[in-house]
Amino acid sequence: MALKVGLIVGREWSFPPAFIEEVNRRNEGVTAEFVQLGAPRMDDPSEYAVIIDRISHEVPFYRTYLKQAVIQGCTVVNNPFMWTADDKFFGAALATRLGIAHPKTIVLPNKEYIPGIVHDESLRNLKYPLDWEAIVEYIGLPCILKDAHGGGWKDVYVCRTMRELIDNYDQSGLLTMIVQEFIHWDHFIRCICLGQDEILPIKYDPRERKYHVEHAHMGEELGRRVVDDSRKLVRALGYDMNSMEWAVRDGVPYAIDFMNPAPDMDIYSLTPHYFDWVVKHMADMAIDLAKNPRPQVRELKWEDLFAGSRHSAEMVGGAAVLGSGSLPPVAAPAAPSVAGSGSASSARPAADPGDAPDAIVRAEAEEGHA
Ligand SMILES: Nc1ncnc2c1ncn2[C@@H]1O[C@H](COP(=O)(O)OP(=O)(O)O)[C@@H](O)[C@H]1O
Ligand SMILES: [Mg+2]
Repeated sequence: MALKVGLIVGREWSFPPAFIEEVNRRNEGVTAEFVQLGAPRMDDPSEYAVIIDRISHEVPFYRTYLKQAVIQGCTVVNNPFMWTADDKFFGAALATRLGIAHPKTIVLPNKEYIPGIVHDESLRNLKYPLDWEAIVEYIGLPCILKDAHGGGWKDVYVCRTMRELIDNYDQSGLLTMIVQEFIHWDHFIRCICLGQDEILPIKYDPRERKYHVEHAHMGEELGRRVVDDSRKLVRALGYDMNSMEWAVRDGVPYAIDFMNPAPDMDIYSLTPHYFDWVVKHMADMAIDLAKNPRPQVRELKWEDLFAGSRHSAEMVGGAAVLGSGSLPPVAAPAAPSVAGSGSASSARPAADPGDAPDAIVRAEAEEGHA
């Protein structure tokens, strides 16, 4: 019986039929089709050897199902466990640990929290107020403020002054934001990375948000470094389908945005030239993974990355550093608390809504996760 590759997609129109046709056309004992889901059971075997997931960042039901599919031996591209764990601050730390140039980055506590979080009771682990002077001194100006979980260029702000930084932060609501050094680049590259091995560096203009077909856009040395750094990062992340952005300043490629597990594969933005490359290599990868399954649950090889000493990490401006001692006591609420399970007569503070749905998850532009 033929091995099956399933495709889960949103409204993108050009990549899905081209991919399905390409896999089926090869006649390699592997067929491709759109996945059809009703209400899966916990022990359902996976019909698919491989599933290509292009949209679970916007349809959480798919992610929930895909984790079960991994347990049943399906190879999911991309690994739903890693995708669930990634964020831009983690990415900054990972790239830095790998010795890859990355703009200086700080993560900020949220401006706001979900209802039920009482600031002076629930947030005892947070220092307040933030030391904005130290943050700006470390990062420099202008700086970038962006959503740690963002995509599609949403909630990305260039801040020229500390006032602008604080004003934008004050508007960030429930998002967890990072502050980042602004890289004044003279060259911008976006790499399409497939199968943790194939790296296609393309000249990209972020102002126009456009790829340019220009084969000699990089010198040999820069080209090699961009490809090597992309491969190193993509292997650490374990993403089989990804795009990575590099901003080059003084000949050094800085990793800007490299966790795009549902990269743009539209024929108009990629251009037909790179679109054909993507369809061909996606088909190669899917067929290969169907025939040579990979035990995905053992894939997150992070212990190699995190072997460094806890004390070697540079402590920065106080912003990322927790206080060294014990937690401050909770002030007993003067009045019955507003939320949770604390009884009105007890001095126990209200329970935090730890099991509340993640209010931070927000819709991202479907085609724009890259
Ligand atoms: N540190 C930075 N220095 C210079 N430009 C940046 C920096 N971070 C982001 N940008 C610009 O903003 C764009 C969007 O930011 P990015 O991190 O890619 O967010 P998203 O994940 O929403 O696409 C990038 O393509 C780049 O042009
Ligand atoms: Mg981007």
